[in-house]
Amino acid sequence: MPPDSARWERLIGRFARRAEGSGYGLIVQPVFEHTEVFRRVGEGTDVVQKEMYEFVDRGDRALVLRPEGTAAVMRAFVQHRPATPWKVWYVAPHFRYERAQKGRYRQHHQLGVEAIGTDDPALDVEVVAMAEGFLRDLGLRDIRLLVNSLGDTTCRPGYVDLLRAYFAEHADRLCNDSRGRYPTNPLRVLDCKRPECQEIAERAPALFEHLCDPCREHFEGVQRGLDAIGVKYEIDPRLVRGLDYYTRTTFEFTSSSLDAAQNALGGGGRYDRLSEDMGAPPAPGIGFGLGVERLLIACDAEGTFALGVRGLDVFVVDAVGGDSGFEATVVLAHDLRETGLRVDRGFGGRSVKAQIKAADRSAATYTAIVAPEEWSRGMVVVKHMESGDQHEVPRDEVGAWVRTRIDSAGARA
Ligand code: HAM
Repeated sequence: MPPDSARWERLIGRFARRAEGSGYGLIVQPVFEHTEVFRRVGEGTDVVQKEMYEFVDRGDRALVLRPEGTAAVMRAFVQHRPATPWKVWYVAPHFRYERAQKGRYRQHHQLGVEAIGTDDPALDVEVVAMAEGFLRDLGLRDIRLLVNSLGDTTCRPGYVDLLRAYFAEHADRLCNDSRGRYPTNPLRVLDCKRPECQEIAERAPALFEHLCDPCREHFEGVQRGLDAIGVKYEIDPRLVRGLDYYTRTTFEFTSSSLDAAQNALGGGGRYDRLSEDMGAPPAPGIGFGLGVERLLIACDAEGTFALGVRGLDVFVVDAVGGDSGFEATVVLAHDLRETGLRVDRGFGGRSVKAQIKAADRSAATYTAIVAPEEWSRGMVVVKHMESGDQHEVPRDEVGAWVRTRIDSAGARA
């Protein structure tokens, strides 16, 4: 709600500037998708198995409120086949049936990008750098960037076998969930937050040491690029992320201002097989999503990206009343708005005192008062609210008069 929503708006504006500055265009998508879009890509993940809001519509279609953005963007790509590389950004609500708490909601919002059509590591560098730059724009400092490579269908199966064998050796010390999970999905165990599992996972074999040559070269390229532009990162061999479609590069930004259980501000990675998993020709891609609510929590904790109170420029007050006051203030407010000033006014024939009070509340820089005697001479009383200084200004010149003063005050600030 206003006034807090002004910060939300500015956050999106900053992100748009970053994304558009790297050649990404806005994509706006439906809030719901065919269940199939997510089912195919996330059989082994909580987000898809346990957390989707699913429903059947009046035409018997199985639909979901989108739990994440990547598969939805890939669905659009597969359907419309735009020229590649196809680079899009979004800000959208996402829905997950989670245990709601601070930083974890059943409806959250993500700012994200997806770039589809090339597996060039330069794209990975661009995407990571964009997110990193945006977090810097917000003034966030308490951030870690973790990166990893999850390999591909050539090298990952061998590693998964190795990992399964390792966890089998230590199965008696894993938590119940992980013990049930490691035979089918040992990668997920690397992600388990229970201390007993983390201790075992710390000594597990690392995938980046078992990459095939093309994946190793790709990962080295990403690191070389990040080094070249001075982006600081840590390689985290246990970063597997919570969705199944990832291949090769994965990354996550964490903030120590958030609770440990949900300290990820955002993350992403490559999904080079997602298009084929949807039954379409190959189309490698990479992207990320940042949680808007978590970004704002982190900004609050670090005391940055504060809400700048920027009130109105002019508040129009009707001190004439009746039909002539009505007409005069309708025209004055309209003309001032047409000049690009931010203008509000009193309504409902309220007393002058009540209107002045409303002007104070609106934090307007100036009040333009249509008063009987001055108006009859074609003049408006313009009052600077902070100093109380008053001037008579010809009615057709109020806009230019205010604009000059606001611009020169802005230049002095
Ligand atoms: P994700 O890691 O599931 O990735 O979500 C991205 C970010 O959204 C999280 O890091 C977090 O900040 C925020 N988030 C997720 N769930 C919640 C929640 N319940 N409440 C508040 N914030 C939340 C994805 O969704 C991928 N689609 C990202 C991606 C794009 N990968 C490639 N391209």
